[in-house]
Amino acid sequence: KRPAGAPDPALARKVGKVGVVGAGLMASQMALLFARRLEVPVVLTDLDQARLDKGVGYVHAEVDKLLAKGRASQDQANRLKALVSGSLTKDAFADADFVIEAVFEDLAVKKQVFREVEAVVSAECVLATNTSSLSLTEMGAELAHPERLVGFHFFNPVAVMPLLEIVKGAATDDVTLATAFATGRSLRKSSVLVKDAPAFVVNRLLTCFMGEVVAAVDEGTPLEVAEHALDGLGLPMTPFALLQLVGPAVGLHVAETLHAAFPDRFGASGNLAKLVAAGKPGVYRPDFSLDPDAVALFAGG
Ligand code: 3HC
Repeated sequence: KRPAGAPDPALARKVGKVGVVGAGLMASQMALLFARRLEVPVVLTDLDQARLDKGVGYVHAEVDKLLAKGRASQDQANRLKALVSGSLTKDAFADADFVIEAVFEDLAVKKQVFREVEAVVSAECVLATNTSSLSLTEMGAELAHPERLVGFHFFNPVAVMPLLEIVKGAATDDVTLATAFATGRSLRKSSVLVKDAPAFVVNRLLTCFMGEVVAAVDEGTPLEVAEHALDGLGLPMTPFALLQLVGPAVGLHVAETLHAAFPDRFGASGNLAKLVAAGKPGVYRPDFSLDPDAVALFAGG
């Protein structure tokens, strides 16, 4: 069944090669998924060799896990590893049909990325962004071909979460949208078309959910209590575990975007900002016990 608002699937272009800008965790997870489900070459780019090696290393380690679990044969594992490569220059995107960025959540940075990508790709290449909250329309404003820009928003962990938000900017055309839906289907994701509005749909809900628990802590509920207050609801993760998964900096960025757009509905969290400013990777230590530094920060210490 065609998802609500999706254009005629016959308009979709074939995707024979994928480019991923960024080699961080989200980008590497995406690279593996594209290689695994589309069975096409995937090139990651980043600013330096160390980041590239880390991204490609992540993909190889995940492929080894699939092999160990019996989810991939030795042949498939070898093929998957060979499909994913790293490149320091975007020239490697010259013959790509679909380029997606997963770089830092900053509009100016993303605009610069797409300027560089547009200079090397073919006229038919779809440009996609994994932004969590930024405006598609603004991101595409200076592109020569803004009609080929589409939002393609995954959820963490990318391999597991079935949802994909597909975002239509003011200029996005039907060929681009159809290609995005076809690609989402090949990735075996459940795609929904959402409006180009701050944080789209899902991150608004998650920010309400996480934001209210963070606010309860800001107001004096001990972190340990707030963390487990929802245990009885049978949620897959507690709010702070979710915050840890998406990363406090990403969570704060989405919260700030929503606060700026809808100040009457989304508050600002002083303590979450403090956590990010302190450079803390999260509220947990590697053994998943609460980090005393994070607890102290949230308690105003
Ligand atoms: N990468 C790859 N696979 C992973 C993974 C990861 N990071 N984490 C878990 N998995 C896999 C496991 O390997 C396992 O696979 P298997 O069945 O082949 O063994 C499967 O997922 C289930 O994992 P577990 O049994 O270890 O753990 P759970 O059953 O508790 O599930 C979870 C883990 C799927 C992460 C679950 O806790 C969950 O659904 N949490 C909520 C996640 C969520 O809400 N994400 C959205 C975040 S918001 C976002 O990303 C948007 C951004 O813009 C901010």
